[in-house]
Amino acid sequence: MKIIIGSDHAGYPMKEKVKAHLVDQGIHTEDVGTHSEESVDYTDFAKKVASRVSDGTIDRGILICGTGLGMSMVANRFRGVRATLVNDLFSAIMSRRHNDSNILVMGGRLIGDALALQLVDTWLETPFEGGRHQRRLEKIDIE
Ligand code: RB5
Repeated sequence: MKIIIGSDHAGYPMKEKVKAHLVDQGIHTEDVGTHSEESVDYTDFAKKVASRVSDGTIDRGILICGTGLGMSMVANRFRGVRATLVNDLFSAIMSRRHNDSNILVMGGRLIGDALALQLVDTWLETPFEGGRHQRRLEKIDIE
């Protein structure tokens, strides 16, 4: 599994913790920035991550901004991206089981680092259930 991770300034401290946690586990992790707490636009980093998940050049993405809201809005504009805003354990599980989430979005100003790492682990470990949920996912795209 290869992961691409990005944040804005509000998510930067948490991104660094999540990245270190993934690397510690031997997970290949590509960091697209940002690289400091200097103010940037969340849109730019959401696009860098979502475009790579959308074109299939990487398996999964993680995005962190202040609330997770802006990053979610941007990422879900990319075809094939299923970005889920997750700030609790139940959502981490269900975003995988029912929604086959391929981008995990978290709010760096909403939750603590310890919970964020637990959400990441849960999201990575939980399989998609398929079946009726696959049919529903296929109805997402509007042509
Ligand atoms: C940045 O101040 C903040 O707006 C951003 O991190 C995010 O929460 C947007 O949705």
